[in-house]
Amino acid sequence: MTLRSISIACAFALATPLSASANDVDLNKLYSGTNRVQQADLATMSRDEIRLAGMRMFTKPFLTSEGFGDGNDTNPSGAQTERGSIQGIGTFQRVGGLDGQTCLECHSIISRRTVPMKFGIGGVGGVNNSVIGAGGNTFVDLNLSLQSGGDSKKNIDGRVINPPFIFGSGGVEQVSNEMTIELQAQIAAAPANTTTALNAKGVSFGSITKDAAGDIVVDGDGNALGAEGTFDLRAESPDFMVVAPFGRKGDAKTTRTFDVGALSFHMGMAVDGGVDHDNDGVVHEITEGELSALSVFVATTQTPIAKHPHGKALRGRQIIKDIGCTECHIPKMETNSKFLGFRSPEIAQDPTANVHTTIDLTKKPMHFKRNHQGGVTVPLYADLKRHYMGADLAEFDGDSMFTTGRLWGVADTAPYLHDGRALTIIDAIKMHGQPDSEAFDAVNNFNGLSNSDQEAVLAFLDTLRTPNGTFKKLNRLARKVARQQGQ
Ligand code: HEC
Ligand code: HEC
Repeated sequence: MTLRSISIACAFALATPLSASANDVDLNKLYSGTNRVQQADLATMSRDEIRLAGMRMFTKPFLTSEGFGDGNDTNPSGAQTERGSIQGIGTFQRVGGLDGQTCLECHSIISRRTVPMKFGIGGVGGVNNSVIGAGGNTFVDLNLSLQSGGDSKKNIDGRVINPPFIFGSGGVEQVSNEMTIELQAQIAAAPANTTTALNAKGVSFGSITKDAAGDIVVDGDGNALGAEGTFDLRAESPDFMVVAPFGRKGDAKTTRTFDVGALSFHMGMAVDGGVDHDNDGVVHEITEGELSALSVFVATTQTPIAKHPHGKALRGRQIIKDIGCTECHIPKMETNSKFLGFRSPEIAQDPTANVHTTIDLTKKPMHFKRNHQGGVTVPLYADLKRHYMGADLAEFDGDSMFTTGRLWGVADTAPYLHDGRALTIIDAIKMHGQPDSEAFDAVNNFNGLSNSDQEAVLAFLDTLRTPNGTFKKLNRLARKVARQQGQ
């Protein structure tokens, strides 16, 4: 890609008869063909240009000629890279992915608070955008629904996941990077023959014990005894005690890692490895630079907003502290640095390695508040830690570990919980507080509140809102980049 070719394309797009509106800037024209972003281009592109290129990746419907889909396999093996498709149409499977043509299809609802709902770029997905997975050895079995009698009529196996929004994810990533750095330093410094507590930003991640030789003591699965809260507890793993806030299960450490999986799972789009991994005849599906731009865009979307709480809402804010909700839903986290580094390739345990682009989280459009230690305040209402949520919320393979739902923006983002089963906030609160859930005590306290106190909690949660004007602001970005190129 060359900047000159972008500016020519911009001039073309803006010079169309209705160019008074920035809606007419067709991003696909700016970056198509030979104008594709390569990793080396990032060094010469402005932050705005990178974000715009990333926005295109997020909103672009990929085509078969560009690598969408998995190739026309007649004998699908079940592996993600050679999936079949319904009636062999090549573009849609639904269970186990191949279920969207663009990121925007599933991340587009800014608010469900009003009727009709409000759309924008980067929001949540509704019920019909939920992803259906079939993992392990079990498959989604529709036959169960045809059987008569008992619960089997209602129980169809499968994993359902409802799309969260991507707002504020740069701040989340910065907090998790710094937590990982803290945990890794504690592990490295832990003395032999001792049990050492692991803590990051005030959150406990259990402990590790080193034996006389200085090795971490593990159980039969290789998991470090006493360690908790992250996705990978195997002492030998390169992901050991790496805080991974993304995904409902807290299994993706950065937006970049998540985006690689999303491109492949939903669309069969592979990041350039120089091979046609899915046998569809297209080799360069996503360049490393396009992936980098996408991850910068995702991590530089707007930040959820908190309306100033008054009266009842103010009382509600105190009540969620008093009854224990904020032990997991920690109102805010402080970072040491306001600069988030994007990396390629990523080394999980060292978030400072291979940084290619750095962004200032206090700048537009994130606007995180600067704190006293040179970092930012991230008002996420979560601890970035995985918790056991009880058998009721377990997915079909019995796994019930989920990362704490971040409550910022929660007033706008129904349906709730990982699978969207809770259609209202109060349902969400009650449903994750079964007796065998780690949230039981807090939810039990909530259930014991007077009606007026419960209403105060809901009034407070109603102040936590998604950002406004995502289309308008991103259109302004498109215009600005065009202007910077001399238009
Ligand atoms: C078919 C619907 C669908 C499409 C298309 C889709 N997503 Fe998602 N997205 C989801 C779901 C569902 C989740 C939750 C996944 C999980 O919990 O593991 C999610 C989660 C995410 C997250 C993590 C958010 C968080 O805070 O945990 C990111 C980042 C993301 N998607 C980016 C993308 C990108 C980039 C694309 C396009 C390449 C994309 N998504 C396309 C449904 C979709
Ligand atoms: C032990 C930790 C823990 C405690 C305590 C806790 N929660 Fe949660 N909360 C979670 C986890 C984990 C999830 C995500 C569950 C899922 O995705 O299925 C969650 C999800 C939620 C959601 C849904 C968010 C969404 O966007 O889907 C709400 C609302 C919520 N909690 C409110 C509360 C309130 C109010 C309290 C206090 C009564 C509370 N929680 C106590 C861990 C906790």
